[in-house]
Order: sequence, then C-alpha cells, then structure tokens
Amino acid sequence: MSEAIDGAAVWVVIPAAGAGRRFGAAVPKQYLDLAGRTVLDRVLDLFLGHPAILGCVVALSAEDDWWGDSAHCDDPRVQRAPGGAERCDSVASALARLGAQAATTDWVLVHDAARPCLRRTDLDRLLAALVDEPVGALLAVPVHDTVKQAAAAAAGPITRVATTVPRQLLWRAYTPQAFRLGLLRRALAAAAAAGLAVTDDASAVELLGLQPRLIEGQADNLKITRPEDLPLAQFFLTQQGRLC
Ligand code: CTP
Ligand code: MG
Repeated sequence: MSEAIDGAAVWVVIPAAGAGRRFGAAVPKQYLDLAGRTVLDRVLDLFLGHPAILGCVVALSAEDDWWGDSAHCDDPRVQRAPGGAERCDSVASALARLGAQAATTDWVLVHDAARPCLRRTDLDRLLAALVDEPVGALLAVPVHDTVKQAAAAAAGPITRVATTVPRQLLWRAYTPQAFRLGLLRRALAAAAAAGLAVTDDASAVELLGLQPRLIEGQADNLKITRPEDLPLAQFFLTQQGRLC
C-alpha cells in the first residue's frame, strides 16, 4: 500500500497524447530516446519508484503505435485512457478513468509526459505541501528575465514593445500540478463548458475563483518542446547524476 496524504491516496495522470508538432520528429517527443530510455519511460520511472504513488493513468492518442514498447506497459499500476483533442481533454479523460476507482478526495498529480527531468526532491516538496492544503499546488519557477508585452500584431514583420511587465509577481507554471480528483474534474468540466481550452490544470481551478499554491521548483524541469531541448534534457539528467 502506498503512503497516503492525510488518508487520501495519491495518483498520477500523464497527458501523453500530443503529436509533438513543434519538435517535428518522426515520433511524438514523449517517445524519443533520451540516453537509452524513452522520455515517457523516464517520467514513469520516477513516479513508479515513489512510495506515495498508488497508480498512474497515461492518456494516449488513438494513433499511438509506441506505448506497447514501453518498459512500463505491463505494469498493473499503469492504466491507459484515450487522449483528447487538447491537453485538457486528455487530462479530463484520464480523470474519468480514475473516477471508477479513486475517491473524489484523493490527490491527483498531473505531469506532462514531456518533462523527464523532474527531480525526486521537487516531487517530495510538492507532496509535502499538500498536507492540510485546501486548494492544491503546482511546481513553478519565478521569472528572472525582464518581461516585455508586444504591441498588438501590426501589418508587416516588425514586432514592437507595448510595455514592460513588472516581473516581481510572475512565475512560470511547471508540472506536476496537484489537486483533489473531485475539484479538478469539476474545474476542467467548467472550463470546457465555458469553451476555454486551458493549457494547465491550475488555470481551470483558478477559473473557479480559487488560488492554487505556488511551490518553487528547479528550472531544469523543462518541457521538451523543440529539438534543442532534447540535448538540454540529457545534460540536466547527467548533472543530476541520473545517467550513470
Ligand atoms: N498532450 C495531450 N493531449 C493533447 C495535447 C498534448 O496529452 N491533445 C500532452 C503532450 O503529450 C505533452 C503535454 O500534453 O505531454 C504538454 O503538451 P505540449 O508540450 O504542447 O505537447 P504536444 O502537444 O505534443 O506538442 P506540440 O504542441 O508542439 O504539438
Ligand atoms: Mg501542444
């Protein structure tokens, strides 16, 4: 039995149904090789090796030809759900799969399949923050660069600055993002009903008027998006001592 938080079980949802268009490889980026293991398998390695995690649901595209080769495809703790048109649809589908077996008060950690460099220490910090947490929490990183807002698109190729946005209160939202199953299902359903394709789970919860807690994480928990991110991820894993 896994370690519960205040009696609530902890589940993981991994949206892995994207096509990786910006990366532009022959396979979706979650199936790219990262030093001998796929990106998605490295994500699952971390969660399945953690004593707090009771099980995972992986949302997969109907066109997925690769999951069957995963090192974890036969693990009974890993279940599949059909992916949707947008990330939020894939998450909602995975939550529906969980609905049959999990309590609405159980915690769900949603983590992008394309973030293989999540550190165990960041995961532990996020889990620790859930004790007595009424809303939920997400890993995030304070913005250190000066941030510019561009002027509304003008005719022609030149983009100009409209204003400089004060960065003191700005954070970049990472994953995992942790919410109670019932709250997250309700939040994603409300966002969908409003026609909003939220790009992270916290956004849906914020639309309910709630304020998720920001937990500062390491900046190396990058989301592989473009080709140059793959060698960067390998470098970060090496730095973390995870490729020896
Ligand atoms: N995702 C998903 N279902 C979708 C779209 C995305 O499960 N319909 C997943 C991706 O597989 C990824 C995560 O959501 O793990 C974050 O999405 P993103 O980085 O945008 O991945 P892709 O959509 O695959 O990439 P792109 O936008 O470049 O096509
Ligand atoms: Mg996408």
